[in-house]
Amino acid sequence: MRKILVTGGLGFIGSTTVVSLIENGYEPIIVDNLSNSKEMVIDRIKQITGKEVPLYIIDVCDEENLRTVFAKHHPEGVIHFAGLKAVGESVEKPLSYYENNLLSTLTLLKVMKEFDCRNIVFSSSATVYGIPQRVPLYESDPVNHATNPYGETKVMIEHILMDTQDAWPELNVAILRYFNPIGAHPSGLMGEDPNGIPNNLMPYITQVAIGKREYLRVWGNDYPTPDGTGVRDYIHVVDLANGHVATLKKLDTNPGVVIYNLGTGKGTSVLEMITAFEKATGKKVPYQICPRRAGDVAENYANCDKAYNELGWKAQYDIVDACRDSWNWQSKNPNGYNK
Ligand code: NAD
Ligand code: UD1
Repeated sequence: MRKILVTGGLGFIGSTTVVSLIENGYEPIIVDNLSNSKEMVIDRIKQITGKEVPLYIIDVCDEENLRTVFAKHHPEGVIHFAGLKAVGESVEKPLSYYENNLLSTLTLLKVMKEFDCRNIVFSSSATVYGIPQRVPLYESDPVNHATNPYGETKVMIEHILMDTQDAWPELNVAILRYFNPIGAHPSGLMGEDPNGIPNNLMPYITQVAIGKREYLRVWGNDYPTPDGTGVRDYIHVVDLANGHVATLKKLDTNPGVVIYNLGTGKGTSVLEMITAFEKATGKKVPYQICPRRAGDVAENYANCDKAYNELGWKAQYDIVDACRDSWNWQSKNPNGYNK
């Protein structure tokens, strides 16, 4: 497999993965509708890799346009990143989330079948485990109803993929359940560019450090965790990107459906993250302890043995590396891709 269609390839994880694909000899083709990304990302990819990547500004839900891309390039595999991902927004606009995330996947699978494209990697999330009964989380743990419509689209798409593979056994499906992606490409040319006030911890920290926000609100210090703050499994986006390359190699062995957690296997609390960021960057992060955020769980981290045993992949970077790279991106691009 060489030619890989990357849906959502201008986004945070997609763009980093496109770079890893090129570095590993693949030929990515990007499809993105710019709903949460900027066209200039393609120039950054070229700056890093020296390669011109074919880019189609189209919606994956648009069957005719998608068919044209398949007819031109005949990709052998697809990595499907395209989707809406803001948890809070999904609660306010559930129909947009169900429509975009489900319809894009259905359209993609339909066109893949038409062109006999037999490999798909899907961006799922740890959110499919719902409220964990225990940590670490294993791939064999039950997939529960997610706590919000965004998460529910991930649960539904996992089922859609498995049912499709049942009916079309030549299809290979890799479901990757990401834990908490942070960091940025080490060049400082690509990174996370959230709209408005960041919801996630790392972009909020970097915006405090650069002076855009006054202080971090730590959502609760009364959880049953060592320091009382929430514990998550933060994974560097470059490690995550390389996990996709390892997964494509696995799909070459025609495994049918495979599911992997992509995390580090290590939990980090909010206070530990603040300390790591200060250590990595020398910047102070003022914070205040606030009440718990609705919908948060105390602790969530992965067991990643399966990815190591079956893909030979494990995370190489730690949170200090990720903090350094997040800050490198934020300080070089204070307004993200908006200059
Ligand atoms: P992102 O928003 O940066 O990237 C998604 C990209 O898809 C954007 O460039 C957007 O413009 C594009 N897109 C959305 N709908 C589209 C459509 N219908 N047609 C064409 N393009 C479309 O998000 P990300 O952080 O890079 O996440 C990538 C994937 O990983 C998403 O599916 C997300 O749900 C999943 N994921 C992300 C996280 C995280 O914390 N970032 C965690 C778990 C899973
Ligand atoms: C959140 C989403 C999850 C989604 C994931 C990736 C919620 C409830 N969960 O996960 O569904 O898959 O993002 O996009 O929104 N924190 C603070 N202050 C902040 C921000 C975060 O203390 O300003 C804490 C949180 O309470 C949590 C940790 O930092 O303990 C990580 O938060 P976050 O980055 O939002 O990720 P998740 O909550 O794991």
